[in-house]
Amino acid sequence: MKVLLLYGKSQSNNSLELVETAKRLGHEVATGSILDVSSEVSSTKSRFWLKRNEITDTEVCFVRSFGPGTCEQLTRRISLIEHMEVAGIRVVNPCYPFRRARDKYATQYILSRAGLPVALTYTTESMENAYQRSTEMGVSVYKPILSSMGKGSLRFDSPDIAYNAWKMLSRLGQPLIVQEYLSNPGRDIRVFVVGGQVIGSAYKYGAPGQWKTNVAQGGRMVDEPVPDDILELGVKATMAIGLDYAGVDIIESDRGPVILEVNGSPGWQALREATGVDVANKIVKHVTSGGKA
Ligand SMILES: Nc1ncnc2c1ncn2[C@@H]1O[C@H](COP(=O)(O)OP(=O)(O)O)[C@@H](O)[C@H]1O
Ligand SMILES: [Mg+2]
Repeated sequence: MKVLLLYGKSQSNNSLELVETAKRLGHEVATGSILDVSSEVSSTKSRFWLKRNEITDTEVCFVRSFGPGTCEQLTRRISLIEHMEVAGIRVVNPCYPFRRARDKYATQYILSRAGLPVALTYTTESMENAYQRSTEMGVSVYKPILSSMGKGSLRFDSPDIAYNAWKMLSRLGQPLIVQEYLSNPGRDIRVFVVGGQVIGSAYKYGAPGQWKTNVAQGGRMVDEPVPDDILELGVKATMAIGLDYAGVDIIESDRGPVILEVNGSPGWQALREATGVDVANKIVKHVTSGGKA
């Protein structure tokens, strides 16, 4: 098949693995930055180029990132990916599910609508409202609307620190996502789903003194058996968002398992090291054998 892989500003190890795996499986693969894709619409057809090379006959397009940019550039890139879908290219992960998974606010209401457990999450642009809500929550968490690898999330034990953070963030034009802090056993769970099946899972333990378990924040992934109900929650969350593959983070709170995020462009280096699962192979095979989200 003719496969295209689009990354954001630069190619990660995960993207490279998808490219190498697709080549090894006999596919014709092009790769580049989403910033370098141009498109054309006429009354009869759509055309696409990566730099100057026409890629209109692409059959499968892996999108790993919308890339950095202005609101207008991101609007263009999201439309570009939707345009590819409209033109008949199989996009993985699909455009709107991918957008929703990128957005920590949208993820919450889609999961909630599907009847899945989420943390109480308040979203506002008003620092006064954020302050009131975080004070009511006691210990609260701020999450950037677009973030990953634990970068930028803050935990507030003191309303005064929270107040100053809300003030600064709102002056910087950031939406304010205020989430209840969930007591937990110092770990959470990553469930990796491809084509509606769990292909791997692991516990993530935070570094000493660190409330986030992300490997990028010093956390460790450990291959320990995860209960079936938690694995099932990972599958349901992935299906609710509509993703072909996802890394779902689930935390064991006092009131049972709660889904923290559904990552539509998950990394798998740490998971592969912990479990030995060849994630790229599973993703490419799922998609090129006609599997649907
Ligand atoms: N509401 C919360 N209560 C307790 N811990 C949390 C909460 N939200 C996030 N965390 C911790 O922070 C980590 C990162 O949060 P997550 O929502 O997965 O965002 P990211 O995209 O940055 O990984 C989680 O794996 C978990 O360890
Ligand atoms: Mg996470």
